[in-house]
Amino acid sequence: MANAPHIRKCLFPAAGYGTRFLPATKAMPKEMLPIVNKPLIQYGVEEALEAGMNQIGFITGRGKRAIADHFDTSFELEHQIFGTSKEKYLEDIRHVMDNCEFVFMRQREMLGLGHAILTGEPMIGPEPFGVMLADDLCATPTEDDQTKAMGQLAELYQRYQCSIIAIEEVPIEDTASYGIISGEEIADGIYQVTDMVEKPKPEDAPTNMAIIGRYILTPEIFTYLRKTEPGANGEIQITDALRLLAQDRQVLAVKFKGRRFDCGSVEGFIEATNYYYENEYKP
Ligand code: UTP
Repeated sequence: MANAPHIRKCLFPAAGYGTRFLPATKAMPKEMLPIVNKPLIQYGVEEALEAGMNQIGFITGRGKRAIADHFDTSFELEHQIFGTSKEKYLEDIRHVMDNCEFVFMRQREMLGLGHAILTGEPMIGPEPFGVMLADDLCATPTEDDQTKAMGQLAELYQRYQCSIIAIEEVPIEDTASYGIISGEEIADGIYQVTDMVEKPKPEDAPTNMAIIGRYILTPEIFTYLRKTEPGANGEIQITDALRLLAQDRQVLAVKFKGRRFDCGSVEGFIEATNYYYENEYKP
């Protein structure tokens, strides 16, 4: 097989209201909530950059300007702390700002994750691309293996050159919170997707293999998204478009290595805070 193109672009759908974090998210984007001292969305952009994706597209909406400010220079602040011991706190954000390009697109109506991804089409064009939901925070697998979930998907893309989604086994009683796949295992932890269903009740769930917020999508997904009717909650679901795509093309699901925290829920957010404080935070 010819060499696969390097994946350069990553979309960050971030237009949702974050209602589970009200009132904190009334005037502040959910993506700016910090895990210890770093906003969720910065962890996501760092993970994308580590996976080789340096063209970052944010899908935002009303009330999300803090995201744009975060990835921009703050002259007064930088002037103020220049040459002091506090400069080290800006090292990571400077690194992503120096190495990424950022594009912001607005989703005018909250018509679902699938619709948010479709909003990014003008920036993506005819290339494969990553999609990252920053409220799923993925830690490095081990000290010796630093490749996080998106990097693992990007490596697999080089081998399979098709759409690939990250999955995790969840307790069967939780299936109604996730897209759930069924598939045939073609290699250790890698499944050829045969079907998918969005948020099934436990009794209707075909498996307990849940889609989490890391995807690599090939550009024909846009055609399928345009054909997708609104589904659960009246929203255009990426799961429905991927199910259609899987009928025509290979779509893989992979059990990624490393721990994931659902920072869109208060419990997951607290767990992540404790974990990152113990394991990653360097004062
Ligand atoms: P969620 O289902 O977690 O919704 O969206 P939410 O609004 O962020 O949070 P809650 O449930 O109200 O607390 C999954 C991802 O899809 C994005 C969200 O920003 C989040 O990253 N999204 C969802 C959009 O960008 N646009 C939409 O229309 C819907």
